[in-house]
Order: sequence, then C-alpha cells, then structure tokens
Amino acid sequence: MKGILLAGGSGTRLRPLTQVISKQMLPVYDKPMIYYPLSVLMLAGVSEILVISSRAHLPMFEALLGDGSHLGLKIDYSEQPRPNGIAEAFLIGADHIGDDNVALILGDNVFHGLNFSQTLVQQAAHVDGCVLFGYRVHDPEGYGVAELDAAGRLIGIEEKPVRPRSDLAITGLYFYPSDVVDIAKNLRPSARGELEITDVNLEYLRQGRARLVNLGRGFAWLDTGTRDNLLQASQYVQTMEQRQGLRIACLEEVALRMGFIDHESCQRLAAGYGGNDYGEYLRAMAADLARPQG
Ligand code: TTP
Repeated sequence: MKGILLAGGSGTRLRPLTQVISKQMLPVYDKPMIYYPLSVLMLAGVSEILVISSRAHLPMFEALLGDGSHLGLKIDYSEQPRPNGIAEAFLIGADHIGDDNVALILGDNVFHGLNFSQTLVQQAAHVDGCVLFGYRVHDPEGYGVAELDAAGRLIGIEEKPVRPRSDLAITGLYFYPSDVVDIAKNLRPSARGELEITDVNLEYLRQGRARLVNLGRGFAWLDTGTRDNLLQASQYVQTMEQRQGLRIACLEEVALRMGFIDHESCQRLAAGYGGNDYGEYLRAMAADLARPQG
C-alpha cells in the first residue's frame, strides 16, 4: 500500500501562527505536527509516501524529512498549488498510487491508542473499497458524520450536517483501492469550491464498497485546527509521555519497531541529537529493543 500525507491547506483558523509556516510544522508538544500522521502511515506498514503541500511550504518539509531513507522510507513531494480540497490528493498523487491501494492521512490529525498498528495492518490487508475510521465526538456537526445500521454497517455519510444522525465523526485517515483515482477524476467541485473527500466516500457507499472501523472510546483522535485544540493535543502528548516514559510518534522508534531500520541505524540517528533527551530516549529504546525479548 502507498501513502499520501496531505499537508497543505491555508490554516486560516490558526493565523497568525500560520502566517509564514505550515500548520503541519507547528509543534505538538515535542515534535512537529507532521510527525504524528507520518507515524500512522508507518504503523500501517506503509513505506512509500507522497507528501503534498503548497509550493511555499514544501521546502521545509523536504528539509525536515528528506528522501526518508534514514527512516527506511521513500518520501516524495508534490505541490498542491491551492487548497482545492482533500480529494485533489488523488489527482496529484495518481502516478504515485499506480495500481496499489493507498492510505491517505491529513497532516493535522493526531491518533493514539492501544493496538493501533495491529488495527491498521489488519485493515490494510482488506481494502476492497473505501475503509473509513470513525470516532465518537461531542460536536459531530463540524465533521463528516457516519450513519450505521443496527448491525454496525455503514449506510450513510453526511458532511457537516446541521442535525447529525450519529456522534460518529469520520477521521482524517482513509484507505482506498487504486480506482479512487478514477472516482476523483469524475468529481465536481462542491458549493464551497472544493473536491470533497465525502463525495469520494459517498460514491464507494453507492457502489456498496464502503465500510467504517470504529476506533472506540479507549482511543484518542485529536484535532489540531484551532488554538485550543492545538494546545490540548500538546498537553495530551505531554501527559502520556511523562506518565509512561514512552514517546508518541517518535519516527525513529516507529521505523525500528516496524523493521524499516535496524538497531545500529537507530543508534546513529540517536547520536545525531547531540545528547538531548530525545536522542537519549532513542538510544535507550534501541538498546532495549536489541536485547532478546521474553
Ligand atoms: P482544514 O482544517 O479543512 O483546512 P486548513 O488546514 O486550511 O485550516 P483552516 O480551516 O483553519 O483554514 O484541512 C484539513 C487538513 O487537510 C489539513 O491538514 C490541511 C489539509 N488540506 C490540504 O492539504 N489541502 C486542501 O485542499 C485541504 C482542503 C486541506
């Protein structure tokens, strides 16, 4: 499966924070925001990733992540000239997708929860149509909202409904087969002038090829689109990391755990942090994981 990380957008709600830098480059506690969605793709076992952003912001992402080889990844970059909608990612990324399935993740989404990697890898093995990930929120009006039947099957999707039929928001992580490119090619811009991801998902639903995985209440899906949400996401990461002594979305650790890099490479990356606590964490983690488990 290929990956697309969509990190464009205008970040209007966060200005002036986003006046000159991308929202996805802002800190979520101890890491740039983009680390969080990138780690999700890696946890799904995806190593070929296209990062899409504006011309102004791409150079910073390239400076941060390079070609990804230090993490055992292959990262490419493409421009989205204007924020014409999330579904435009499939047109920009058509060659990258080719004949493979694709996982699309929005650059401002933070996920954290038990057995997430296992869930992702399992779902990635059965992409016969679109696979959506739902999460209960108290304010579904602001999201794409899923409607399920009594058996838990997906029967409806509404974009930002005034009267939501459920509390289940559709998160910014989506799996599709390669025919998503054809579906995207046939989209028309919505009333707000965007190629809507909800229209893509509705087409799969019409074809009887859409399903939703409910992430459940023991899980965290955090928004980072407003000042308060951004601060809360940082506080969540700080709380979890300080309590457990384990870092969320530490890319080098994820690369090691997923087998994208070996222990020696991880130790080299750790040394590159000049002895700070992030590097020290990595060094200890790599040493720990190198010991026979059991
Ligand atoms: P949004 O939060 O809908 O938009 P935004 O990031 O521009 O912020 P604001 O609403 O404050 O102006 O975008 C969700 C994610 O999708 C975010 O990571 C940016 C990304 N995105 C794109 O990369 N291209 C697009 O065309 C759109 C609509 C969003």
